[in-house]
Amino acid sequence: MSEGEFRALRDMIREEFGIFYDDGKQFLLQSRLAVRLAKAGLESFEAYCGLLRNPRTRESEIRELTSVLTNNETYFFRERAQLRALVGSVLEEILKERPARPLRIWSAACSSGEEPYSLAITLMESGRLRNGDFEIYASDISDRVLALAQRGSYQSLSFRATEPGMLQRYFEPIGNEQKLKGDVKRHVRFFRLNLLDEQAMAAVQAMDAIFCRNVLIYFDRPTQKRVVESFAKRLTQRGFLFLGHAESLFHVTDLYEPILQPDTIVYRRRVKEGRK
Ligand SMILES: C[S@@+](CC[C@H](N)C(=O)[O-])C[C@H]1O[C@@H](n2cnc3c(N)ncnc32)[C@H](O)[C@@H]1O
Repeated sequence: MSEGEFRALRDMIREEFGIFYDDGKQFLLQSRLAVRLAKAGLESFEAYCGLLRNPRTRESEIRELTSVLTNNETYFFRERAQLRALVGSVLEEILKERPARPLRIWSAACSSGEEPYSLAITLMESGRLRNGDFEIYASDISDRVLALAQRGSYQSLSFRATEPGMLQRYFEPIGNEQKLKGDVKRHVRFFRLNLLDEQAMAAVQAMDAIFCRNVLIYFDRPTQKRVVESFAKRLTQRGFLFLGHAESLFHVTDLYEPILQPDTIVYRRRVKEGRK
C-alpha cells in the first residue's frame, strides 16, 4: 500500500465510519483491507480505492468493510449492572412520565441480537410491564449480523453470562444451538442503520432509552460527539443513554448528565433552557 493509497483509504474510512487510522497504523489498515481485497478478487489497493469510489459498488463494499474494521463481539446479559439499572430506577423514572404508548428502547449497534433480546427478556422478567407495553428497536450497520439476529439461534459462547434458568425459560435446544422462543422475538424489530448517516438517524424518534455499547470506542472523538449529540435528538426530553463500560462522555459532550447507579453509570439527557 503506497502512502497515497493509505491516505485516500483512511480518509474514506474516517468519513464513512468515523474510525481514524493515524500514520502509525498503516500496516494495521493494510492487513485488514487485505482480507477485502482477496474476497473481491482485486490485486491492488488502487483497484480497491476504485471499488469504493464507484457508485455502483460503493454501498455494498462499505457494508462488507464494516466487518473487518470493527468486531461483532457480544453475548447475552452483557454488563448486567446496566440491565439492573434499566429495570430499577431508570424504568421508575420513565414510568413517572406515564407515557400513553409502549416504552421504546433502541439497541443502536446490536450486532447478532444478544443485546436487544437480553433487553426484552430483562423487561419481561421485571414483571413491571405487561406484554405489548414495550418495543425494542435494534439496528446495526452490518447485514451479516442482522441476519444472524433475525435467525435468533445461538451457540454456547453467547451464553457465557446467562443463568441456566433463563436459558431454560426463553430458549429451546436445537442441535448444538439454543433457539430463542417466539414471545421474546416479537418484541424486537431489526433494521439496518449506519450511526453516521444523519438522514437515517433522523427517522428514529422518541426513544425512552438508547443502548449504544461497545461501538463508540472505534470512533474518533469528533465522531463520538456527533453520534451522541444525534442520540440526544432521538431521545425523549429526559431519555437515558447507556454506553459500554470502557466508554464515557467525559470531554465529549455536556448534553447528558451522568447518573451513578450501583456498579455502573447511566447518562440522562439534560434539559437546557429554551430547548425541547
Ligand atoms: C462490539 S459490537 C457491540 C454489540 C453490543 N452493543 C454489545 O455491546 O454487546 C459492535 C457493533 O457495532 C457495529 N457498528 C460499527 N460501526 C457502526 C456504525 N457506524 N453504525 C452502526 N453500527 C456500527 C458493528 O457492526 C458491531 O456489530
